[in-house]
Amino acid sequence: MSSKLAELNAWVAHYADLTGADRVHWCDGSEEESARLVELMLGSGDLIALNPQTHPNCFLHRSSVSDVARVEHLTFVCTANRDDAGPNNHWMDPEQAKAKMAALYKGCMKGRTLYVVPYCMGPIDSPLARCGVEITDSPYVVANMRLMTRMGAAALARIEREGTFVKGVHSTGDLNPDRRFIMHFPEELGIQSFGSGYGGNALLGKKCHALRIASWQARQEGWLAEHMLILGVENPQGETHYIAAAFPSACGKTNLAMLIPPQGYREAGWKIWTVGDDICWMRPGADGRLYAINPEAGYFGVAPGTSAKTNPNALAMLTHDAIFTNVAVTADNQPWWEGLPDGTPVADWQGRAFDPANGPAAHPNSRFTVSARQCPSYTPMAEDPQGVPLSAIVFGGRRESLVPLVFEARDWTHGVLVGAGMASETTAAATGAVGVVRRDSMAMKPFAGYNFGDYFAHWLSFDKPGAKLPKIFHVNWFRKNAGGKFLWPGFGDNMRVLEWMIKRVKNEVPGHATAIGILPGEGELNRDGLNIDAADLQALLHVDTHAWRTEVGAIADYLEEFGERTPAALFEELDKTARQLV
Ligand code: GTP
Ligand code: MN
Ligand code: MN
Repeated sequence: MSSKLAELNAWVAHYADLTGADRVHWCDGSEEESARLVELMLGSGDLIALNPQTHPNCFLHRSSVSDVARVEHLTFVCTANRDDAGPNNHWMDPEQAKAKMAALYKGCMKGRTLYVVPYCMGPIDSPLARCGVEITDSPYVVANMRLMTRMGAAALARIEREGTFVKGVHSTGDLNPDRRFIMHFPEELGIQSFGSGYGGNALLGKKCHALRIASWQARQEGWLAEHMLILGVENPQGETHYIAAAFPSACGKTNLAMLIPPQGYREAGWKIWTVGDDICWMRPGADGRLYAINPEAGYFGVAPGTSAKTNPNALAMLTHDAIFTNVAVTADNQPWWEGLPDGTPVADWQGRAFDPANGPAAHPNSRFTVSARQCPSYTPMAEDPQGVPLSAIVFGGRRESLVPLVFEARDWTHGVLVGAGMASETTAAATGAVGVVRRDSMAMKPFAGYNFGDYFAHWLSFDKPGAKLPKIFHVNWFRKNAGGKFLWPGFGDNMRVLEWMIKRVKNEVPGHATAIGILPGEGELNRDGLNIDAADLQALLHVDTHAWRTEVGAIADYLEEFGERTPAALFEELDKTARQLV
């Protein structure tokens, strides 16, 4: 046995002992193993089989009622020096955190099986990929990790070769929210999670590893780990431009990643290819461009609102081999959620007889888990070990006023400011109030594993001689009129905005320079077949100088929060904007 496997074995043995697990099972990722786990979960009630005629190999999981979303107030970054975690994270002293967790883990797996899940984030042969091992007592977590990562024997072989891996420990514990913690130890590439079975808290490869720990690793190694979808836009000439986009949770990443171009575009030969829908790891290549991979192998998407109208590709991939969490079911046992035009829920997400008085039938943060390969727009380029070269980076949020449909940053530094200053109204994806505007730099507020001040400086550092950086844009699909109605039809029609971005990348249109950035000039946005009146379009592209001055002040206050660590270049850039807002 290699010394690296010896280290892994000793670590597993330590937790087997501490947790008092009855058995230890090393996951190989095989079909047989998966079938056995499903059998086990059907027996225990962890999974409920859905209609095998309409949804073969699809299962429903109902989580504990108080365990339905990420818990940011219970998520900690534990660094030796508190300032390294920054005001953007909850911090706990690493030794104190470990002691707390060891007390919780003690004996917590009595009567349970401890699963060892080796996984690789990214194509197994990619130099950009990184590996981890998750210890968990939840077979539901194993089943999800199997869909969401490259899990099993191949990952273990890479770990043995490479040595370095992220060590994640997870136990559902007793699901008591008072005994729930998600701890990160970036300095030792460790994660410890207790008391939750929910996706972002329990599938440690995703937010914990691929964002919080990876962002720390990325800073040290000169790359970026981001909360971004990656898509390819193929034009009628057959050339494909790749775009990465960061929107906060439940703000449209999965939708945009799987967009189907509207009528007219399709006939002309435009296509959208999906590389990833949630996480993007990118690094400069030898030619100076940024190359991106999707570290995940599946989608953990928001179910409500997913329909043949909003996201036909997602709907198409959800007819077989999928896990649904906290959706409702129909009389003939099909999965159901708000936004589906057909079907009637008979049981709600908690398994009660559906009664509208109890609220929505499906939980607003109910999710599907499915292999990326089942998506009709999935591109083989997503498996390319070198990644895809980026033409554009997009930031965006949910803003019912102020922020126009789209604008382009003046340059990289301004783009970093746009990302750092972005804000969004909160959603059901995390516990807490919904609809409150909060700053969410690069959509990474819940996910950056270190001080945002250092993070902004790291972003700025990519602008160096020889770099051929993507253009940076900002979008807002969510602007509303006085009556509270969305001004922009969104979804497939977002293609029009993507097309304008590509035109800007290729320098085919001049755009219209404003104080906040470059907006589409007169006639530059394709309106053929678009159902929107001129006044609404004008409102969508309006820059309200007075309101933006207030916004600039709010951004300055926010950047001050990171003190000395906020790069001076961002304040200088903000001044540039302020001076033009007259
Ligand atoms: P996470 O997976 O939690 O990181 O979120 P996500 O960014 O992938 O969110 P998702 O694509 O699942 O978006 C969920 C919500 O955004 C749903 O309520 C959608 O209806 C809404 N949405 C997505 N795209 C658009 C759009 O173009 N316009 C409008 N109005 N709503 C949209
Ligand atoms: Mn996300
Ligand atoms: Mn998503």
